[in-house]
Amino acid sequence: MVKVAVVEGDGIGHEVIPVARDILAAVRPDFEFFDVEVGYGLWERTGCACGEETMAELRSADAILFGAITTPPDPDYRSVVLQIRHDLDLYANVRPIQGGDVDIVIVRENTEGLYSGIEWTEPDRACTARVVTRRGSERVARYACTLAKSRRHLTVGNKANVLKSDCLFVEVCMAEAARANVPCTARYIDALCLDVLMHPDRYDVIVTTNIFGDILSDAAAYLVGGLGMLPSANIGERHALFEPVHGSAPDIAGQNIANPIAAIRSAAMLLRHVGDPAAAAAVEEAVRRVVDAGIRTPDLGGTAGTREFGAAVLREVGRG
Ligand code: NAI
Ligand code: MG
Repeated sequence: MVKVAVVEGDGIGHEVIPVARDILAAVRPDFEFFDVEVGYGLWERTGCACGEETMAELRSADAILFGAITTPPDPDYRSVVLQIRHDLDLYANVRPIQGGDVDIVIVRENTEGLYSGIEWTEPDRACTARVVTRRGSERVARYACTLAKSRRHLTVGNKANVLKSDCLFVEVCMAEAARANVPCTARYIDALCLDVLMHPDRYDVIVTTNIFGDILSDAAAYLVGGLGMLPSANIGERHALFEPVHGSAPDIAGQNIANPIAAIRSAAMLLRHVGDPAAAAAVEEAVRRVVDAGIRTPDLGGTAGTREFGAAVLREVGRG
């Protein structure tokens, strides 16, 4: 019995996650789902966005389906998303950029780097430490190399010309790639951002540090129709969390216009993770057929609502 924790979160999470969950439940009626409330809304009501009890619930799941959480740029508020990734030790954030001729997988280090949470504020200075460890780099590099081995090659996105912390990251990644016998090139992240957009065919698996992976994947969304399209998996030794790359999108929340494809594809990644690649492929194929039939949300130029798009995918999944 696969136990799936469902966190809608905030904003459009309340719209796209129910769609993804219904599709999961349709292809795997044997899954057990349970809701977990986490987020800014909860913090506003109770002063706590994600406590120890909540973490225990998340730990008890075989997989987590996650929406998005609003994070205000408030120095006193710690990002819950970062807390969960950190506490569950979800070290590899896997972000496939796929569609048309584009087939790239960004593997983002997910527990350290500039998002290590080591920060302090003084009256006229605010500091954030960028921590890169050998262990943290090794495990994400190993994950990326295993992936690249069944694909083509690996690119290490970095800024080692300026950041000492990235000299270590590149060194470790190159060593892991050599050990795994994976062709590997190091590229500076700024030039890499442009080159990925201009020549996506040159890229296959890209491994990089936390913030660079965050920025590169949002930019690369341009290649495949925008943020509404990108799913992700957050993988650790013991836990796994699946979420759209996008955030809570307060500008469009509550209007039934959010694109649920990123969330549905995240559910497909969850299916693959728990050992059901056939169901994952069926869900992805159903999404493709619905889009090809011209049923699209406004971000893709269509007029379908979030729920209508979801219902169309459910019908396709049922058709098999
Ligand atoms: P965002 O990804 O929420 O939105 C960026 C833009 O893309 C907006 O114009 C939005 O309307 C559009 N967009 C995003 N998802 C869409 C979808 N499924 N369909 C159609 N359009 C979509 O990023 P933003 O605005 O920077 O952040 C909003 C909030 O979300 C912030 O509080 C931020 O901290 C949080 N956030 C949370 C994340 C998470 O929980 N993992 C990730 C990124 C942001
Ligand atoms: Mg982001």
